[in-house]
Amino acid sequence: MELAIRPLASPIGREITGLDIERDIAPETAQALHKAWLEHGVLVFRGIGTAPEAQLRLSRCFGELEPHPIPKFRHPDYPELILLTNQDGPVGPVYDFDGTEIYGRIPWHADLAFTTTPNAGALLRMVHKTADGGQTGWLDLALAYDALDDETKARIDDLEAVYLFRAGLEDMRFNKQDGTRITPRNDNYPHFPPVVNPLVWTHPETGRKILNVSTMNIERIVGMDESESDALIARLIDHALQPRFQYIHDWENDDMVLWDNRRTLHCATGHPMDQVRVVHRTTIKGTVAMGRVLEEETAA
Ligand code: SIN
Repeated sequence: MELAIRPLASPIGREITGLDIERDIAPETAQALHKAWLEHGVLVFRGIGTAPEAQLRLSRCFGELEPHPIPKFRHPDYPELILLTNQDGPVGPVYDFDGTEIYGRIPWHADLAFTTTPNAGALLRMVHKTADGGQTGWLDLALAYDALDDETKARIDDLEAVYLFRAGLEDMRFNKQDGTRITPRNDNYPHFPPVVNPLVWTHPETGRKILNVSTMNIERIVGMDESESDALIARLIDHALQPRFQYIHDWENDDMVLWDNRRTLHCATGHPMDQVRVVHRTTIKGTVAMGRVLEEETAA
């Protein structure tokens, strides 16, 4: 079967069919996949993620892989694979949403948006899906930027914003979730200093403008008073979160989805805590810095 790039039943992303990853991927196929990744931002591969080796082979078509910085998240046999699962109990917070204990809920974000160098991308493989919930969503910030009116584009094009690391949903300032934390806060994360990044970023490979509104991380616009900054960020997030820029994936086992983390946000709906979900993830290392570390106000 020939490699084909097909539209999804959604306004963003594409499905790739006719790809064999059980053996080495030919350089021209890898090039075509790389081009499709940059052109479309999200690529769906249904039913072909049958083994860790196959996932790694495909992931390497898009750049150097980056193991998770915290060893407990690495797959014991494949250090470049990140193991996302609750099979041995929760490793992240559990929240009560409307009386159901939900694990794995992650609001819209870009990975490492709270640093100067976001990951280039990532590839998820569903190893064991849940019966309920467990969807992953992506949204296209290049399309969201393009759809802004000219006046707004001119207003925001040269602005910068502060982005923070936030470990819990309850810490978010925008698009706040209404769940109540059940598990205690015993976070033991490395320290990430605040950063200043462009609010509109130029994608280093495609040159497209990206509306940089990672909802978990954005804090304030540099040089703007708080109420004006809050109103502008809230308006831009409302705009970006429209369904016309989104793709939500209902997983089957062995599906894989790849995204360009410089261009998209992603979110996880989470699933009931009493159901087990197993996902293997690879991360494609970011190579281009977008901003700068902010001197901390508390520093002496
Ligand atoms: C992730 O953000 O990498 C995980 C998404 C998911 O678990 O669906």
